[in-house]
This record gives sequence, structure tokens and C-alpha cells, in this order.
Amino acid sequence: MCDNNQITKDLLKRFKKLRKTTVDFTNNLDAEDMVIQTNEFVSPTKWHLAHTTWFFENFILKKKRNYKIFCKSFNYLFNSYYKQVGTYNPKLQRGFISRPYLNDIFKYREYVDEKIIELLNKSNVDEDILFLVELGINHEQQHQELMIMDILNVFSSNPTLPNFLNKKTKLKKKVYSNVFWKKNIKTTLNFGANNNYFAYDNEYPRGTCDLLPFELSKNFVTNSEWQEFIDNDGYNRSEFWLSDGWEFIKKFNIGKPLYWIDEDHEFTLYGLEKMIKDKPVSNISFYEAYAFSKYKKKRLPSEFELELYLQSHKKSGNFMENNCFEPIAFDENELEQNAYGNLWSWTSSNYSPYPGYKPFQNKLSEYNQKFMCNQFVLKGGSFSTPKDHIRASYRNFYYPTDRWHFCGLRLANDLDL
Ligand SMILES: [Fe+2]
Repeated sequence: MCDNNQITKDLLKRFKKLRKTTVDFTNNLDAEDMVIQTNEFVSPTKWHLAHTTWFFENFILKKKRNYKIFCKSFNYLFNSYYKQVGTYNPKLQRGFISRPYLNDIFKYREYVDEKIIELLNKSNVDEDILFLVELGINHEQQHQELMIMDILNVFSSNPTLPNFLNKKTKLKKKVYSNVFWKKNIKTTLNFGANNNYFAYDNEYPRGTCDLLPFELSKNFVTNSEWQEFIDNDGYNRSEFWLSDGWEFIKKFNIGKPLYWIDEDHEFTLYGLEKMIKDKPVSNISFYEAYAFSKYKKKRLPSEFELELYLQSHKKSGNFMENNCFEPIAFDENELEQNAYGNLWSWTSSNYSPYPGYKPFQNKLSEYNQKFMCNQFVLKGGSFSTPKDHIRASYRNFYYPTDRWHFCGLRLANDLDL
């Protein structure tokens, strides 16, 4: 029981910090910024604020006797995709929700916070509830990153290109060097999560696989390397591209990363910036990452190769806590301390269940299971991921056409046995 109470105390502390961090992100925003939906993949900040709250209310508080629902219509407005919970407002119409007012959403957050805090202030809280609070915290952390991704897209759609953040420190220019981590021997990897810490269902069960000798770049591909790819007509040479990727870039007339304005400028959370050549390139689709790797006569790493790399390094890097909301170029000496974070790394692995996979139970089976089709795994976390959210076994996933998330690429290569 003592342990259980300690876990509860710890969760309470983390819950309070999490909820404050989410609201703090809105300090630089006004109501107009928080309601618009600039693309089908974007959700308004207001929706994120409400949906993360709905998650705690729906999966935890509603189960309690005598709990009074804050507002009945919120189940329709702020359920994301849980069909077993009821019908919901279509994703494409999240930007149509002008009512309730933003202020009511903040009141909703306060109401639910109070009830969860009340629950965690009790002793001997059920293990099921503790698990759901932990899941709710991790869920909101995912949405914190989504909020930042979506804010960047919203701001980039303003013709005046405003900045979301003000730069506090000027980043030092680093000298770029391509450094590879080598695994010269055949290795058996124990992949997946163990039961000593929280992990999503998609990280279980643990398994093993054999990896042939390979090398992996410790640093991300840079803006200047990407410019070289463009200069060499990379977007017009079909020999580098998967068939679907070629169709995709030609259909949507794609010839540069999502937020590049021109050769010398890119749009960032700090507004319009002069392109830093040594900075990791970001906001590229899986198809573009794949084509670049072929152009370099290399390949993308598998999720298991990246998991081995992450397992072999300390969990440190450019995370949300650094308050540096962009990828950083590191010199050779710094790479060892920055194996995690900065940008999510695309992998060549399809997002599929591990053998023996069991989804979360009941309605939460919809959390991950139904997305295990046509997506690719990304590893490592980004500058917008909280440090306590990431681990070596973590599997993020996006469609091969997605490019609004903070992703980059590392190159891999086979080594001789
Ligand atoms: Fe969600």
C-alpha cells in the first residue's frame, strides 16, 4: 500500500505540472490563433485543450458515482476517434467550433483538474485508476507536441509570417561532420518495453531479432545536404523514388521541405529565419527521406537498428524542457550526448503489431490498434517531446505523406560481416 501511495503522490505532482505546461503554451496566443484549422491534419489549439481534458473526464471521472459531467455536448465535440464512446464531430470540422467560448474551455480544464486532484489526494487509489491517470498524462504529452506542430502550421499560413516565440539565445554555428556509429558484428536485439515503467500497448510484448552489421549516422541530414539534393535535381529523378512517393510529389507539386520559403529562408516557430545550413533538415515526408537515402547510396535504418542505437546511449538530447523549439546542429563531441531528441527519425519499418500484441482493454483498444496500417515508425523524440515521455522502445507513427511533424532522417548502411 505504501508503494501505491507513493505512486499516487508522484502522479499528482506530474499531473499538476503537465496541465500547467499545456496552458503555458497558450501564453503567446490569442483566441483567434486558437480556433482556426489550417489543414485537414491540423487541430485548433482550443480543441487540443478540450480534448485532453475530455480524455481524463471520459475514461476516469465518468466512472465515478456522483460525478457531474461538465457539459453533455462536449462528448460529441471533443471525442477524437473513439467509436465505442459515441459519435463525434468530424476531424475536418474541428475548426468550426466557435462555441463554447475559449474561456469555457479553460473553465472545463479547471473543473476536471479539481476532480482529478481530489481523486489523487485519497489514499489507496485503485491500480486501474492510477494506470488511467498515467495514460492520460502520456496522452496529453503527445498532444503538447501536436499543439506545437499545429501552431507552426497555423502561423505559417498567415501571409504576414508572424513568430510564435522570441529567440532568447542565438545558436552557435556548428561545423558539420558526418559521423557514423558502427556495429561491426551480428547482434541480437531485445526490443520492446519491459514492465518496469509505463509504455504503450504497441511496445509490447518484448521480443528478439538479429541485426546484421550496420552503420548509422549519429547526426541528422542537414539543410545544406538537402539543398545539394535539390540542386542535383533530386525531386525530378525518378530513379530515387518509390512509385507512390513519385506520384505524391508530382500530384502535390512538392520540391522542397514543408516550411522552406526559398533557398535562404525557412519558416520556424521563431518566424521567418535565415536558413542555417548546418541545421538538421526537418518536415520532410517518408517518401522524401527514402529518396534522399537512395540519392546518397544509403538506406533508412529499421526501427530495430534505431532502438539498438538508443538503448546504447544515455537518454539525453534536445527535448521540450530545453525551451529551444527547433532542431540544433551538434559537433562531433556533442553527438554522444544527443542520441535522443532534436527530431523524430524516420525508419524503414512499417508500423505493425509485434508478434503476440495485445491492445489496451475495452474502449481504449482504439488508442493504437486501429492505426496499424499504412504508416511508418519514427524513433527518438524531438525538441518538442517532454524528456519523461520518450524511451528507446517508443514507437511513433505517421503516414508516408505526412510532413508537418518534427521529423528528420539519419542514414544507415550495411557493413560486411
Ligand atoms: Fe488524443
